[in-house]
Amino acid sequence: MSLPIQKRSSNRQPLAPALRRLPPGASQAELLSLTEKRLQDAGVDSPRLDAELLLASALQIDRLQVLIESRRVLSPDVVGEIESLVQRRESREPMSQILGRREFWSLDFKVDRNVLTPRPETEILVERFLSLAKAREAAGPLDVLDLGTGSGILAVVAALEISSCRATAVDCSLEALETARENARAHGVQDRIEFVHSDWFERVAPTARFDFILCNPPYIPENYMDRLPPDVKNFEPESALNGGAGGLDCFRRIVPEAGLRLNPGGYLLLEMWRDQAAALGEIFLRAGGWSVPETIKDYAGLDRITVARRLARG
Ligand SMILES: C[S@@+](CC[C@H](N)C(=O)[O-])C[C@H]1O[C@@H](n2cnc3c(N)ncnc32)[C@H](O)[C@@H]1O
Repeated sequence: MSLPIQKRSSNRQPLAPALRRLPPGASQAELLSLTEKRLQDAGVDSPRLDAELLLASALQIDRLQVLIESRRVLSPDVVGEIESLVQRRESREPMSQILGRREFWSLDFKVDRNVLTPRPETEILVERFLSLAKAREAAGPLDVLDLGTGSGILAVVAALEISSCRATAVDCSLEALETARENARAHGVQDRIEFVHSDWFERVAPTARFDFILCNPPYIPENYMDRLPPDVKNFEPESALNGGAGGLDCFRRIVPEAGLRLNPGGYLLLEMWRDQAAALGEIFLRAGGWSVPETIKDYAGLDRITVARRLARG
């Protein structure tokens, strides 16, 4: 996940809450600019975009219409509804949770407080997985394990993109699994994904073997958690973020066991946090039986994905 450094909010003194409430009788254009100003004062990164999306959501229209119908005057009820959305965003609740959805891989996914909001960086993992999986597809059905499924994005995309894919989606959070199931149903792949409530591999059938294990584990170093922006720190589940000392706790558990659960020649694809590539390389080396891991950078040029192959003999 890409985590922006916390931005300082504006130095200007905000108006008293009563004076800041959106006034009934204002036009859409006025509401838009008042909302933008309030979000800017609250330290929101993209106040204009968020203001447009909040108005569009309350009015159940798209963003373009918000701009086109700028002179329209809204009823007090609708203004009240916009006001409550604006207050949520001012408190730094993420847009994905306010709107209840986020796009990933050009697909719509339900998002709530129980799951990590899908990040664009995770699409890099998907791209590499699909190029490897498509090369192996001819050899027969693919068994894919999505470890720490959260909203279910990796299992759902795997099932949608690879017709022979049988996916297992694991999470330690029952609530996250429920959201993942809803997303699988919404995309029509629920029959091709088995959902397992488990502490990593613990309750995955002991005889199950996989061709691919995909995992975006909690990897934020514990001592960095306080420096996360409020949108992340106060609203996303800590169990999806906190990777313990150095952020490496989950990797230390996952890598050795993944070696036992992959078919020979199978792949483990992991998302990681900047600067973790070398330590992760050590973990693979110590576990033994792996190819030298490949590191893929993200759009910001930071190490982001590790791909390691299980050697035929470990
Ligand atoms: C960073 S989120 C990734 C969610 C999703 N795969 C994505 O890429 O957006 C990590 C997920 O791992 C789950 N998790 C954390 N510790 C776990 C454990 N010990 N066993 C199983 N799942 C775990 C969390 O509940 C969370 O859903």
